[in-house]
Amino acid sequence: MSGETDPVIVMKQEVGKAAAAKVRSGSIVGLGTGSTTAYAIEYLGERLASGELKDIVGVPTSFQAEVLAKKYGIPLVTLDAIDRIDIAIDGADEVDPNKNLIKGGGAAHTREKVVDCLAEEFIVVVDGGKLVDKLGSTFLLPVEVIPMAVAPVTRAIEKLGGKPELRMGVKKAGPVVTDQGNLVIDVKFDNIDNPAELEKTLNNIPGVLENGLFVGVADVILVGEIKDGEPVIREIT
Ligand code: A5P
Repeated sequence: MSGETDPVIVMKQEVGKAAAAKVRSGSIVGLGTGSTTAYAIEYLGERLASGELKDIVGVPTSFQAEVLAKKYGIPLVTLDAIDRIDIAIDGADEVDPNKNLIKGGGAAHTREKVVDCLAEEFIVVVDGGKLVDKLGSTFLLPVEVIPMAVAPVTRAIEKLGGKPELRMGVKKAGPVVTDQGNLVIDVKFDNIDNPAELEKTLNNIPGVLENGLFVGVADVILVGEIKDGEPVIREIT
C-alpha cells in the first residue's frame, strides 16, 4: 500500500486502513464495494495474515468484494449462515450533513443496503470530496430496475420530476448489468428535499428493486482529507 503519491488514492488508502483498524477479532464483517472499501478489505487481510486479527468472517456486498476477500484471505459467509453482522465498512458517492448517503456508483447498492442495514455498526469510508450540503448535488441517484420494467419505470421517474438515463457499460457494448442481472437507471433530481420520502417513493414503483438513497443507516463517517500535505482522518459520529 505504500509509495502512492496521488492524494486522492492516499486518502482512500488511509481511510480504508482506519476503518479496517476498527474491526475486532471474532467479528462478522460486511464487506462493501468500491475503490475505497477495497483498501479496507486489503488491510483486513493484512491484519489477519499477521495474526493481529483472528476469526473474522466477511459478508460480501458484490462480486468485486467477494473476489477481493478471496484474494486477501478473508473467509466468507452468506446471510443464511449467520444471525448478525457486527460491523460493515462501505464507501459512498455522496454524504450529507445528516450522514445520509447516495450509493450505487458501482451498481452494487441493492446488496450493499441489505448488508449495511443489518450491521450493528455501519462505517462509511469516503474522501473529503464526497461531502455535500444536499444529496443529489454532484451525483445522479442510481435505481436498480428489473430489465422488463425499464420503460414504465423510466416514465414513472419522469413523472416524479427526475431525469433518468440508463447506465451504459464501459468497455462493454450495451447497458451495465448488475450482480443480480438487472439494469441501473441514473436519475438527476434538481432537489432532493426529503431523501427518506424519495427513497420510499422510488422503491414503490413496480419493477424497481432498490435505489441508492441510504437514509439513517450510517453510524460513523470516516473522511480522508489532506491537510498541510499529509493525509488525516476525520470521524463524524
Ligand atoms: C458501489 O455501488 C457504491 O455504492 C460504492 O460504495 C461507492 O460508489 C463508493 O465507491 P468509491 O469508494 O470507489 O468511490
